[in-house]
Amino acid sequence: MNYDENTSDYDFENRMVAPEYVPEDAEVENPLRPKVLSEYIGQQKVKENLAIFIEAAKQRKESLDHVLLYGPPGLGKTTLAGIIANELNVNLRITSGPAIEKPGDLAALLTNLNPGDVLFIDEVHRLSRSVEEILYPAMEDYALDIITGKGQMAASYHLPLPKFTLVGATTRAGQLSAPLRDRFGVVLRLEMYSPQELAQIVTRSASILDIPIEPDGALEIASRSRGTPRIANRLLKRVRDFAQVISGGVITYESAKEGLDRLEIDEIGLDANDRRMLNALIKFYKGGPVGLETLAAAIGEEAVTLEDIYEPYLMQIGFLNRTPRGRCATQAAYLHLGLTPASCEDGQQKLF
Ligand code: ADE
Repeated sequence: MNYDENTSDYDFENRMVAPEYVPEDAEVENPLRPKVLSEYIGQQKVKENLAIFIEAAKQRKESLDHVLLYGPPGLGKTTLAGIIANELNVNLRITSGPAIEKPGDLAALLTNLNPGDVLFIDEVHRLSRSVEEILYPAMEDYALDIITGKGQMAASYHLPLPKFTLVGATTRAGQLSAPLRDRFGVVLRLEMYSPQELAQIVTRSASILDIPIEPDGALEIASRSRGTPRIANRLLKRVRDFAQVISGGVITYESAKEGLDRLEIDEIGLDANDRRMLNALIKFYKGGPVGLETLAAAIGEEAVTLEDIYEPYLMQIGFLNRTPRGRCATQAAYLHLGLTPASCEDGQQKLF
C-alpha cells in the first residue's frame, strides 16, 4: 500500500503531505522512489555518512546499526529506508508506531525477520510504552523478553531474534523517549531541499513518468514545493494535467505557472491553507503571540497538523516564529500577504 500520496486520510484540503496514515507491511512500489543512494538527490551529508556506515557493515558482514531518521514530513524518510535495505541486499518490512498496537504485534513482526533485514517503523515516536519495552531488548540484544501468566504461573522467556536493523522515522525527535533514542546508533536529520535539488528531482520524475518538461518548468514547480520532494512530485502530476489539457502537453515555465496559479499555490509555495493560517494569526490575534491550540481552533485544524504540516516551512522561510508566549507572524509574512506590518517581534521586546 502506498501511504504517502493517495491515501484517503491524506488528501483533506489539498495538503501535500499526510499527517496520518496506516501503512501495513507496505512494500511500496512507487516508480519515483530512487532505489540506490547514488540516485538519491540532495541530503548530501546524510548520504555520505550513510554510504560509509552501509559499506562498513557489509565489509564486516554485520547488520547495520539501528538508524533514526528525523525531519519534517515528505523529505524521503521511507525512500531512504528502502535504499538502506536495497544497498544491504536485505528485505524491508514497513510499519508505523500507531499500527503496532500490542506487544504481540511487534513480537510477530520481529520473529518473522530474516537475518540482516530492515524493519522500518514510521512515526516511531507514537509507539506505546508497552511496545517500546519489547523493543529495547530487541534492539540491544536481539532478543524478545516475554513474560506469560501471573503469580505462580508466571514464566519468562528469552527468545533470540535474528540480527536486524531498525530504521525509525519521526517528525518529532523531541517526543522520542530517551531510552529509545539512545538505542539508535545512527541518527540522521533530513533537511528541506533547495529549489535546485527539487528541480533535479522533478526532472528525474518527469523522465520516469514520460512527461515532457523544460528546465524552467521544473524549476518553477520546484520553487513552489516548500522544500519537499513529495510535494514536488505531486505538483508535477497536477501541472502535467493542466499542460496536457490546456497548453500543448509540454511543461514550460508558462504552463507550470498557469497550473500552479490555478492550484492557488503562490510563488513561494504557500497554498490556501498556509495563507489562511497566517491571515488568522494576523487578523484575529494582531500577528501574535498566540498559543498554538488557540490558533488551531481558530482555523478548525488540530494543533499537530499546524505543528507538523504548516509550521516547518513557514518557520524555514522566516514567516513564523515560535516564542515562549506563542506563535508570531513576522514582518515578512505581513508583506507577503500585502498587509502593513505590525510587529509581533516588537511586541515581544516590550513584553520580555
Ligand atoms: N524522490 C523523492 N525524493 C527523492 C530524492 N531525494 N532524490 C530523488 N528522487 C526522489
